[in-house]
Amino acid sequence: MHNVGKSYKGTPKYSFVKIPVPADGKDVYDKAEVVGSVPFRWSKNPTYLHSFGMSENYYVLVEQALTVSVLGLMTSRISRETYSDCLKWHATEKQNLFDIDKYPSLSEQNLFRIDKHPSLSQQNVLRIDKCASLPQQNLFRIVDRRTGQEVNPKTPYLADPFFTFHHINTYEEEGHLVVDVSAYPDKKILDTFYLKNVKSEQREVYPEPTIRRYVLPLATYSKATSGQNLVTVKESSASAIKQKNGQVLCDYEKLSDQGLDFPHINDGRLGKKYRYIYGAGGQYINKLVKIDTLTKQSWVWEEEGTYVAEPVFIPGPGATDEDDGALLSVLYKMTKPRHVTCLLVLDARTMTELGRAQFDVSLSRDIHACFVWS
Ligand SMILES: [Fe+2]
Repeated sequence: MHNVGKSYKGTPKYSFVKIPVPADGKDVYDKAEVVGSVPFRWSKNPTYLHSFGMSENYYVLVEQALTVSVLGLMTSRISRETYSDCLKWHATEKQNLFDIDKYPSLSEQNLFRIDKHPSLSQQNVLRIDKCASLPQQNLFRIVDRRTGQEVNPKTPYLADPFFTFHHINTYEEEGHLVVDVSAYPDKKILDTFYLKNVKSEQREVYPEPTIRRYVLPLATYSKATSGQNLVTVKESSASAIKQKNGQVLCDYEKLSDQGLDFPHINDGRLGKKYRYIYGAGGQYINKLVKIDTLTKQSWVWEEEGTYVAEPVFIPGPGATDEDDGALLSVLYKMTKPRHVTCLLVLDARTMTELGRAQFDVSLSRDIHACFVWS
């Protein structure tokens, strides 16, 4: 098993750990090891983390504009603040900022140069670097699993802020790391989980995520010229533009107009190039969705008054095609006098129903799911 955690011993850092299956009778952490670490971007405000990506040779995590205040957590018992009170989204004011770099023709004479007014009272000056609420970009942090070292730490991979719970898959292609995520433009999705919204009579509408593909060049690009797109994977419209300051600004390829979250793929393709994504979508998490990342075609299964859970793909016996198999999902049907819970089985190729089994009991609604062979 591989995982990532936050370590506060010495320099605060994200640490990727590998935990092999223990020998009989041995402690589960007997052979556990830290493969590599990367320091927090902001030492007292690490990112909110829900998942990470892993390919054959690399780990990747998204250091999001949503952070957790360590100080807030430490004092939360006294201040009676909740975990969500300690979360801070650093990108809300972007639309209110004037981006000088976008106006190269702007006359220098019309600009107010603070450095030319040394007598100006410091109190009256807005120090951008001291405004914690200023927009911040997301950072991709890549660690080489063979060396434990961060890839290109001095020329970081930036992207406009987005919020993500779930990585879909990560793989290597032609010297790049392809990182697919289910992403939201901001953190509003978290608000839908507040108790007052969950208890509300009115059903909460979930914001629709976008299936994004970021393509991160792995080579050292110190010699590239500014403005150059470093992505050379032919089939992808994702870009990674070298900036004047050496950083790389990454933009994504949208893999489908159909959004989904709680993604699942054929497990045999994890960490490898793949084609099909399955997930749950719709305004009320009421649709099962399949996306072909190659053709961008999508399929949707839905039923009146029914919520779905994360679908799980099970390959058919002797299957060779990636989508040859069954897609399982738990259904929650809002019927009276009691809710009905079913296990649905779809043909993953066509997203049509093969059958369903109704449970004798009504289960409370859950979203994640897993399948265990026995
Ligand atoms: Fe999750």
